[in-house]
Amino acid sequence: MKGIILHGGHGTRLRPLTHAGPKQLLPIANKPMSQYALEDLREAGIKEIAVILGDVYPEKVKEFYGDGTKFGVKISYVYQDRPKGISHAIRLCKEFIGSDRFVVFLGDNILRTGLVDYTKKFQDSKADAMILLCEVDDPSRFGIAELDGKKIKKIMEKPKNPPSNLAVIGVYFLTPKIFDIIDKLKPSWRGELEITEALQLLMESGNVIEYDTVTGWWKDTGTPEDILHANQLVLDSIGTPQQFQVNDWSEVRGNIIVGKNTTISRDSFITGPAIIGENCTVGPAVRLGPYVSVGNHVTIKKCDVENSIIMEGAKIDAKIHLVDSIIAHQSEIEDHSHPKKHQFLLGERSQIRL
Ligand code: TTP
Repeated sequence: MKGIILHGGHGTRLRPLTHAGPKQLLPIANKPMSQYALEDLREAGIKEIAVILGDVYPEKVKEFYGDGTKFGVKISYVYQDRPKGISHAIRLCKEFIGSDRFVVFLGDNILRTGLVDYTKKFQDSKADAMILLCEVDDPSRFGIAELDGKKIKKIMEKPKNPPSNLAVIGVYFLTPKIFDIIDKLKPSWRGELEITEALQLLMESGNVIEYDTVTGWWKDTGTPEDILHANQLVLDSIGTPQQFQVNDWSEVRGNIIVGKNTTISRDSFITGPAIIGENCTVGPAVRLGPYVSVGNHVTIKKCDVENSIIMEGAKIDAKIHLVDSIIAHQSEIEDHSHPKKHQFLLGERSQIRL
């Protein structure tokens, strides 16, 4: 079986974070979110992978993944000039796929259970496609499946009156039959070739689509709130003693990982789960956690940080209490000499709440 990771799209809901790179490279617990997809494919034995590149800094994706050797897979890159839809992106991979069965993974989806069992199920079945369903609270935001007993009756995109709360998650098991179906699609009202329409048409053309339901959590990280929630879920689930270096300092509680050459001053308190990268300076007088991810080469002084992501090279040196925040690479927050005045240099769609 082969794999496709979708790394295109514009990530408009995540601006300004996506002004400097594709959303799928944003770190969740210090790892780019698309790396979780790549590792899930690899663990399921799928090592030939096409990565769809969009027009938001595609060179950063190639720089990070290279030819895949570092990650134990073989990567081919396929360019999509504009985000014309998930089905459009899949159609671009027709040559790469050839006659193989394959799995498509949206690079901004994270799945707790991995793909090993689902992949085996699809390999052993005669179905023409298999989708994964997950119960959600807000079904009108997602592609939704309506069931009839144990069979799928209908698949629809973001319905106004959802017939069920079963979202079709961003992992699709397919066969080359889908390519001819995609050729028959017309752009939807939002100008995209929709994957849900392709699946519905595949079914209407007499093909068998199976489904499985997701156990454990699944996260689609379209908005800043989703990114922070994904960070919480991952930090909660990677807390095993093997992966975490648990220090015996009295100031540290819960599961934390601390990278090489990072110093945490004695008057600072760290509450896990949290991850702090390499070569960081934490302290003096810092309270950090729970649910905080700090990238490499970060300096944090004098502040409290809760439920936040601080990316590589950022510097925070101010007496503030930071909550639910995402601070991108190389950003700086410093105390001003005039306590009542603030000086900002903000990118488009930045948000500040004072
Ligand atoms: P979306 O979240 O639907 O789109 P987006 O990433 O452009 O975000 P926004 O709505 O905030 O502008 O995309 C789902 C996933 O599929 C995501 O990983 C990007 C990817 N994608 C492509 O690679 N090509 C496409 O044509 C589209 C529409 C999405």
